[in-house]
Amino acid sequence: MEEALDEQKQYIERIREMIAGKQMGYFIQTLGCQMNESDSEHIAGMLRDMGYIKTESVEEASIIVFNTCCVRENAEFKLLGHIGEIKRLKEINSGLITVICGCMMQQEHITNKIKKSYKFIDIIFGTYNRHELPKLIYRKMTLKKRIFDIWEEQKEYVEGTPVERTSDITAYVPIVYGCNNFCSYCIVPYVRGREISRKPQNIREEVETLANDGIREITLLGQNVNSYESDMDFPQLLYYLSDISGIERIRFMTSHPKDLSDDLIEAVASIPKLCKHIHLPLQSGSSKVLKEMNRHYTKESYLALIDRIRSKIPDVTLSTDIIVGFPGETEEDFAETLDVINKVAYDFAYTFIYSKRVGTPAEKREDQISDEVKDERFGRLKNIIDAYSLSSNIKDVGRVLKVLAEGPSKTNADIMSGRTESNKIVNFSCDPSFKGSMVDVKIIKGHTWHLEGEKYDI
Ligand code: SAH
Ligand code: SF4
Ligand code: F3S
Repeated sequence: MEEALDEQKQYIERIREMIAGKQMGYFIQTLGCQMNESDSEHIAGMLRDMGYIKTESVEEASIIVFNTCCVRENAEFKLLGHIGEIKRLKEINSGLITVICGCMMQQEHITNKIKKSYKFIDIIFGTYNRHELPKLIYRKMTLKKRIFDIWEEQKEYVEGTPVERTSDITAYVPIVYGCNNFCSYCIVPYVRGREISRKPQNIREEVETLANDGIREITLLGQNVNSYESDMDFPQLLYYLSDISGIERIRFMTSHPKDLSDDLIEAVASIPKLCKHIHLPLQSGSSKVLKEMNRHYTKESYLALIDRIRSKIPDVTLSTDIIVGFPGETEEDFAETLDVINKVAYDFAYTFIYSKRVGTPAEKREDQISDEVKDERFGRLKNIIDAYSLSSNIKDVGRVLKVLAEGPSKTNADIMSGRTESNKIVNFSCDPSFKGSMVDVKIIKGHTWHLEGEKYDI
């Protein structure tokens, strides 16, 4: 691991020398989840150390990186939409280096297509070797040919790569890479590999550095944080990180209902810095569909878990992910999903139309649901979910909530944006100098996806 970091440093240095004195800019476009956001922050860190400067637009950049997602078809379409733009830029600037990386590149049928049909893409790498980017750029610059380097598995996780954070108030901290669950609809285990947990000491060091840099809130990331496994388990890790001064809030995502333990519920209930919000993906409310999804819980056990959480943490906020139109989903199955939603009354939820992913078990099923039925169910689902979100947000009206001010809105400097402990976005009138502070905000209006408020002075 240290060798890989040493090698990285050497290549960073070589490129620094090669581009010294030239004004070279980088532009990164990130698609997908928080894990990709976090990877992009590391890619930005390496580019910064090589001497590249972040640009505001693709036109100004000397290197463009697309960090891709393939969790649903529309995520892939987004990249294809950008590819035409890359071609155009390459035509007007032949020195431009174009890079595509991330989850979508771990699929052979995609990389074959890029190699064959998109000759203007210079470098491709996947999810397991992002730390090698400096070497790949060096090769591209010196060998003057296209560089493809996709690994089949995570050989090592390299600690200590440079990072350029997007926010100076909140930060993502990955704790587990990969996923072992193989939900039958999901591509993630195929493109992110088996779980690798970082060592508690490395995580703690990173969080301490963040705290020293002024970060106030961290979100611990993993496809399934509950399966964190090292010298400590996940609840123990939370206690271990809970005394770092400067960090005021700790969040985590995502929890898998099959192994959310009573110890974790206890930790959330008892550690003051831990936000009392749990994101607990349901996916479907039908026990039959859940079995076919390989989720390892039933409608009943999920509801029992919600009861346990609510009895220990009465003021908890709950959110979820739901998929409609999984193969074989009947109207009765869908009604079970709506039944769970009505019983839990989620504060907010992310809803998805099932999307066939190449190589997953569900893709091969012959009982796929038609687009018309999927769309119709999705519409009904969305109406119900939105109504619960709105009612949860309206309940906050009149309350004074603690909001971590993340920064003024781009369009109006007098409007600050931040989040409540429950992870709801609040826009409120406040002086920009409060950025980074925990502000008391009186909620004056609840919308479906955000709250409106004003700074509360006693
Ligand atoms: N590891 C996390 C997040 C996975 S991806 C978890 O298990 O919760 C985020 C969400 O995308 C999933 O929760 C699921 O609801 C959705 N998703 C994954 N694969 C999908 C597919 N093939 N079609 C539609 N939605 C999908
Ligand atoms: Fe995908 Fe399931 Fe893993 Fe989440 S837990 S990333 S849905 S396989
Ligand atoms: Fe997408 Fe990869 Fe995340 S497939 S959702 S970017 S893990």
